[in-house]
Amino acid sequence: MTGDDPLEESESGDPTTGEPLTDGGAAGADDVALDPWGSSSVSDYRKLFEEFGIEEFDEVLEEVPNPHYLMRRGVIFGHRDYRPVARALRNDDPAAVLSGFMPTGDPHIGHKLVFDEIIWHQEQGADAYGLIADLEANSARGMSWAEIDEHARNYLLSLLALGFDPEEGELYRQSTNREVQDLAFDLGAEANFSEFQAIYGFDGETDVSHMQSVVTQMADILYPQLEEPKPTVIPVGPDQDPHVRLARDLAERMRFFKVSEAYASFELEDDERALVAEFYERLDPVEFDDDDLRCVHVAEALEETPLSELDASADTLSSVLTKLNEAGMEPVRPRTRFFDRRATDDAFDALIDAIEGEKRVYESHVDAFEIDRAEAEELAREIEVDNGGYGFQPPSSIYHRFMTGLTGGKMSSSIPASHISLLDDPEDGYDKVKAATTGGRETAEEQREKGGKADECPVYELYAYLLAGDDDEFAKRVYDECVGGDRLCGDCKEQAAQLMKDFLAEHQEKREDVEDLLENADIELESPRRR
Ligand code: TRP
Ligand code: SF4
Repeated sequence: MTGDDPLEESESGDPTTGEPLTDGGAAGADDVALDPWGSSSVSDYRKLFEEFGIEEFDEVLEEVPNPHYLMRRGVIFGHRDYRPVARALRNDDPAAVLSGFMPTGDPHIGHKLVFDEIIWHQEQGADAYGLIADLEANSARGMSWAEIDEHARNYLLSLLALGFDPEEGELYRQSTNREVQDLAFDLGAEANFSEFQAIYGFDGETDVSHMQSVVTQMADILYPQLEEPKPTVIPVGPDQDPHVRLARDLAERMRFFKVSEAYASFELEDDERALVAEFYERLDPVEFDDDDLRCVHVAEALEETPLSELDASADTLSSVLTKLNEAGMEPVRPRTRFFDRRATDDAFDALIDAIEGEKRVYESHVDAFEIDRAEAEELAREIEVDNGGYGFQPPSSIYHRFMTGLTGGKMSSSIPASHISLLDDPEDGYDKVKAATTGGRETAEEQREKGGKADECPVYELYAYLLAGDDDEFAKRVYDECVGGDRLCGDCKEQAAQLMKDFLAEHQEKREDVEDLLENADIELESPRRR
C-alpha cells in the first residue's frame, strides 16, 4: 500500500496454526481491482495469484535468511521475483530495498508495515531507500506544497524512529532528485500514452503532471540500480502492482541486448521454439540421408506428425512450418542469440569481440554457439554497463495484506476511528482499540463454548501485525486462547489497548529523539515551490 487509502480487509487465518492464511481465507465473489489511486480492495487474495501472476510468498520463505515476522505470519503474502533478492541477502551480495510514501496525511499503522519492511532489508545488508512521493501527492491528490512538507516530515520521523539508518540508507523527495527526474525522462521515451491508458485507465482528461508522476515512480523503482545493477525489492501493497509490472517491463526495454535461444537464423516464439527443440532432439540426419539436420527436414517431420500428437496449436504449427521452409537447407543448430535492441554501435562491436568460441554475426543479432543462456545474460549485462548502459535487473516486489479497519470493513485514512495514526495520542489509541469490533460471540458463555473468531477479528490482527512484535509464541497464544474459548474479548481488548498505548507512547518518544537525525539527514524538508 503506502497509498492514501491503504487497505482493506484482511481475512481468515489458518485455524490450525493461528497464522493468517496466504491464500486469502474466505473466498469473496467480488472482482479484484488493483488501482494505485483508487480505493483498492482485495476480497480474495487467491485472485491476485491467478489473475495477476503474483507469486505466493510462502514458496520463497525458506530461502529468506531470518525472515521478518510479517513474512513468517503471512502478512507479507505475495511477491514478484523475490528470489534474486533473497539470494543476495543470503550471500551478502549487493541488494537494495526501496519504497515511497505519498505525503497526503499522517503515517499510520498500515505504513508501519512498509517502514518495517524497508528497515528489515536494511538490517540484512541491503542498500535502503525511502522516498517522499511529493510530485505524485501534488499531481494525483492535489496536495499543496505546504501540506506536503508537513506530512513528509511526519513520515520521515516515524521511519527514523522505527530504526531506518539515514547514514547507511538514502532518503529523498521526488521533486528535488535530479537523477530520478533525468531517469524518468529516459524511461518516458520507452512508454506511451496508449500504454498508460491500458494500465491506469488514463484518458484525455488526465493531467500531464499525473503522467509525469508515473514515470517518476518508474525512475524511483530503478534508482537504486543507477550505479550498478542489483536485485532490488519494492515492498508495497498489492494496489501498486501495476506500477511494479510496468517498471519491470521498462527495465527490460532499456536493455541493450535481448538474450534468447534459437535454432537457426530466424526468430522463434516460445511455443514455436519448444516444437523445434523437441524435433531437434528426436531427429537423426541419417533418416534424411544427410550429415546435418536441416530446416526442411524438421518441417518434413512436423508435417508428417498428426497435430494431435504435437503439443502446439494449429497456428503455431503453421507459423513454424513457414519459417522452417523459408530457411530451407540451413542446418538446425541450437545457439544463444544476442539480439541488438538498443545498443550503440560500439557496444555491439564490443559484444561481438567478447563472445568466445564459434559465433555468427548478423545485422542486428549475434549467435553464439559455445556459451549458454546464463553466461550470455551475464556477458550482455557486462558489455552494456561497460558501454554506458544501465543493465537493469527487473525489480522485485513483496506485497503485504491490507489491514482491516478497527470499525470493521476497510481501514481508511478518512475514517479516523478505523485506523490508528502513529501520531495519535496514546490515550486515543487505547480508546480506539477498546472500541474496535471483534470476532467475539454474543455472550461470554457462547464464547467459552465455541471460541472467538480470531480470523475475523481486527483486534487479533493488531496483535499479529504489530503488537506481538517478533514474539510468535505470544501471537499464537492469543490466537489459540481466542479460538479455544479461553480468551474473552473484554480482557483481550484491554491487553491490546494497553499494548497499543505503550507502543504509541514509545514511538512518539523515539520520534522526538530522532528530530536531530532528520535535521542532519540529506533531504530537503522544505519545498521552495509555491501553493
Ligand atoms: N505510488 C506510491 C503510493 O501510492 C508512492 C510511490 C512513489 C512509490 N514512488 C514509489 C512506492 C516507488 C514504491 C516505490 O503511495
Ligand atoms: Fe478478537 Fe480477542 Fe475477542 Fe478473540 S478474544 S475475538 S482475538 S478480541
